[in-house]
Amino acid sequence: MPDATPLEALATLETQGLAELASAAAEEVAVRAWNTKYFGDKGMVKAALAGIGKVAKEERAAYGQAANKVKVALETAYAVALEVAQEAALQKSLTTDSIDVTLPGRQLSPGKLHPATQILHKIYGIFADLGFQVYRTREIESDELNFELLNMPEHHPARDMWDTFFTQTPGQILRTHTSPGQIHVMRERCPEPIRVILPGMCYRNEAISTRSEIQFLQVEGLVIGEGVTMADLKGTLTAFARRMFGPDRQIRIRSSYFPFTEPSIEVDIDWPKDDPNRDRLTKGTGWLEILGAGMVHPIVLRNGGYDPDKVTGFAFGMGPQRMLMLQHAIDDIRLFWGNDLRFLRQF
Ligand code: PHE
Repeated sequence: MPDATPLEALATLETQGLAELASAAAEEVAVRAWNTKYFGDKGMVKAALAGIGKVAKEERAAYGQAANKVKVALETAYAVALEVAQEAALQKSLTTDSIDVTLPGRQLSPGKLHPATQILHKIYGIFADLGFQVYRTREIESDELNFELLNMPEHHPARDMWDTFFTQTPGQILRTHTSPGQIHVMRERCPEPIRVILPGMCYRNEAISTRSEIQFLQVEGLVIGEGVTMADLKGTLTAFARRMFGPDRQIRIRSSYFPFTEPSIEVDIDWPKDDPNRDRLTKGTGWLEILGAGMVHPIVLRNGGYDPDKVTGFAFGMGPQRMLMLQHAIDDIRLFWGNDLRFLRQF
């Protein structure tokens, strides 16, 4: 048998290609392998197109046309075969790996704010109504601001009221209260009048128990201006207590001592008579301490840049976690940072 002519070889390429594609039997992998064999870099179609160089000159035009036709025919057949194979694969997965669309989806549990954040927001809201701005200052403080400038020189016995965490950097401590924020805000705003609250975390080196933690929140308040008096302090705290704990609350003021206020007071609120926990919470007195406060000491005013002969001010410091514990009869302060969802989900 004589050798096939180039045109005959092209015809054979087409029939052979179509037959092989048909026997790939709707399997995607086999269909793709076929494509590589015919259309890959070293594929048979490419070789056939390149073969034009060996064809006699007068036959080239006919050869080129025929080769192109073969190429298009095989390409079209491939596209159809691939689609058929993919459709078959989809049908198969729908019948064998069936999904039960009637199964309920997985519930997303929406997060919510930590109870401590919730009460902070409530406090911000109340003081915003009273014209206070929120002012934040640092948690790592200098000994100077945490104590000295608040009228507690080194070795002052009042420093014993705060068990302090020291850092390895001399003079740098974890703030034991939010009061050093008073100095920051005064030095920034002086000589303007001030009406701010300073919320944030404080740290004390205490044995952790149901009643004390090494970290806890405080909200400090500071008001400075001409003619600010104890009556303003009393009015502000009464307004706060009534918005926070109920419109009928009374406040009671006892004298106290803080080095940075003079005079210093402690403020109690009366606990509702109809609350069955009243006696336990108030140890039978009916009154509950909610914060410490006082008129800003002249030395502190001066340290903040103000002239105590021209302006006066008041300050207070409260513990929002303690307020939450009162409101919800929480008897263990460690629950706050324990990350126990059974506790957190109740709020
Ligand atoms: N800084 C005080 C404390 O932590 C509270 C306080 C603040 C008292 C402001 C008076 C004025 O105990």
